[in-house]
Amino acid sequence: MRLLKDLEVSGKRIFLRADLDVDISNSELNKNVRLRNLLPSVDYLLENGAKQVIVAGHIGRPSPAASTDAKALADKSDGKPPNYDPNLSTKNLVEPLERILGRSVVFKDDLEFDEPESLKSLTQLLLLENLRFWPGEEANDAEFAKKLADLADCFVNDAFAVCHRAHASMVGVPKLLPHAAGLHLQEEVETLSKLLAQPEKPFVAIVGGAKIETKIPLIENLSRVADKVLVGGYLPVEIEKDNVELPKNVLVATLGADKKDIDEVSVKKFSDVIAQAKTAVWNGPMGLYEDGFEKGTVAVAEALIEYAKYSVVGGGETSDFLASKKLLDSFSFVSSGGGAMLEFLSGKTLPAIAALE
Ligand code: 3PG
Repeated sequence: MRLLKDLEVSGKRIFLRADLDVDISNSELNKNVRLRNLLPSVDYLLENGAKQVIVAGHIGRPSPAASTDAKALADKSDGKPPNYDPNLSTKNLVEPLERILGRSVVFKDDLEFDEPESLKSLTQLLLLENLRFWPGEEANDAEFAKKLADLADCFVNDAFAVCHRAHASMVGVPKLLPHAAGLHLQEEVETLSKLLAQPEKPFVAIVGGAKIETKIPLIENLSRVADKVLVGGYLPVEIEKDNVELPKNVLVATLGADKKDIDEVSVKKFSDVIAQAKTAVWNGPMGLYEDGFEKGTVAVAEALIEYAKYSVVGGGETSDFLASKKLLDSFSFVSSGGGAMLEFLSGKTLPAIAALE
């Protein structure tokens, strides 16, 4: 993976693929971890003489436009991109980004940069509209990638959470421009690689949430490097139902009668294992915390904070829960990835990281 330090950025226009996929209804966006992760790369680029940084990313999953017929789209009178949805517009991020980045941000709602010329030449920090408003983004359309690449001289990817998606801005643009990983992406890759390659032992992995089909590769891969893998959330129900066979060092929780949280016996067993750990990684809550079943998740968090010397946590729900309890800062590293973290720790090659070779 090419690194930012090896990219010539002075005097260049940089297309910075960012992790902007946040819940815009949250009133505290200026504290959002994904948005804050952008600061080191933006500082680095501007301090090293980049002429302009074009921040681009997506929010959510906009519904495809009713018609993708090219003529119908060209005839659209409002001038908005095909999948436009005001609730998913990155325009909502201008203010929080200005506060986090400490600089003014100019929003650009289309990809036509011909005029006004001042936008192209004078503005240091531009924010593009949600890239998924254009169907070419998710389709990894070569023409769309070229349109994006034409905006800049270099490509920097700082969007770890999207690296499992082979979308135009993730894998198409780096084919066309000199490229590098941003500073946050570099830290994610180094941290998670080290967990898989040389964790300080004992190493404990904790996996929760639901959707066993997405978690089996993760549990299996982690069981090869971890001393113990602790499994909770709704996964024990799915494991039993599907009769899933797991490696010997995997400890599956028993659930309370309502099946909404791990039971007291498992809380004790899990805490005892965590108490021995020097390294830990955790993805997925232990129970349905959003409905108040949070005892297991709190117990795991407390045990990790108290005992594990080095702890990495990730996944949208786990991070949201810990943030709501003001516990996020107690972990050594918070991965910004949900699906991307799962796939990375499952040992898969993420297409957008491969594109940075
Ligand atoms: C995420 O939040 O995990 C990323 O932004 C990817 O989002 P997606 O699952 O909609 O592709």
